[in-house]
Amino acid sequence: MGKKVSVIGAGFVGTMTAQRIVEKNLADVVLLDIVEGLPQGKALDIMQSAPVEGFDMKITGSNNFAETKDSDIVVFTAGFPRTPGMSRDELAVKNGGIVKSVVETVARHASASIIIMVTNPLDVMTHLAWRTSGFPPHRVIGMGGVLDTARYRTFLAEELNVSARDIETMVLGSHGDTMVPVDTHTTLKGIPISRLMEKERLDAIIERTKNGGAEIVNLLKSGSAWHAPSSSVVSMVEAILRDSKRVLSASAYLTGQYGIEDVHIGVPVKLGSAGIETIYEIALSSEELKGLKRSAEAVRETFENLRI
Ligand code: NAI
Ligand code: 2OP
Repeated sequence: MGKKVSVIGAGFVGTMTAQRIVEKNLADVVLLDIVEGLPQGKALDIMQSAPVEGFDMKITGSNNFAETKDSDIVVFTAGFPRTPGMSRDELAVKNGGIVKSVVETVARHASASIIIMVTNPLDVMTHLAWRTSGFPPHRVIGMGGVLDTARYRTFLAEELNVSARDIETMVLGSHGDTMVPVDTHTTLKGIPISRLMEKERLDAIIERTKNGGAEIVNLLKSGSAWHAPSSSVVSMVEAILRDSKRVLSASAYLTGQYGIEDVHIGVPVKLGSAGIETIYEIALSSEELKGLKRSAEAVRETFENLRI
């Protein structure tokens, strides 16, 4: 049987995610939203590009969340994006209600699916989705680290005038102000970054990466990024559907790894058909480990303040 992905939220991120999935011939897609006509209109428009783009997958739009039935993956992008000056955490209460009610419905209709959370604040919403769904931890994953890592690689490559594909690194921690770029594992094809760049420049790039989302929000004036976010989501969808065992940074439920437990936070994971198949505990400097723990505490505090 063919694969099926449901994308909740037919806004900027959701629609582009749906489009990328069908264009890559990964799965049939159901695009869902509460606004009547919106997912149907967008799905129809994307479907009409099939003969030109050359894909065979079907995309449909719906306002009925029961149509997530039997999905292999459900991607959550429903909710509000940040406005200029607004932190991801301020979004927590607003988006928490939406995530909880939609996850309750989806967990009934797509009970064997893997959830990929995108809605912000990412790690908090991933934790909420996990608690609400009753799914095992390996089937509820947050997308934040792939995007943050992509931004970091882009900025480093620009500075070094090399291809971004040759930068190896990972950004861990929460998808938020406390994210942790790991210098100890950042290389250009194995050459440690510290040998290629002054510390001052590296610190400036790390700072820019941490503000990567806000930089775009401030430029756009309304709404937030969606091109790199949707690429990042689809790389995770592809790793799961193709069972390709990719190692990526993603928000996962920790049970003592890195001395952290009962919270979702970005760590290196192996993604395959089961979802998160391994959580890797890599060696971190004491500063990086401290940063990861600080990040986890910030997520925990926001989650506890939600009182949902
Ligand atoms: P958007 O405003 O374009 O789309 C959100 C959509 O959700 C709207 O179409 C809205 O009608 C829909 N929606 C609202 N309540 C709903 C409900 N109860 N059920 C179904 N749909 C509902 O926003 P955009 O730009 O697509 O961003 C979506 C979310 O993704 C935001 O929370 C944003 O902060 C987050 N985001 C996260 C990233 C990450 O790295 N994790 C990257 C980019 C965005
Ligand atoms: C981003 O990092 C807003 O989380 C979103 O672009």
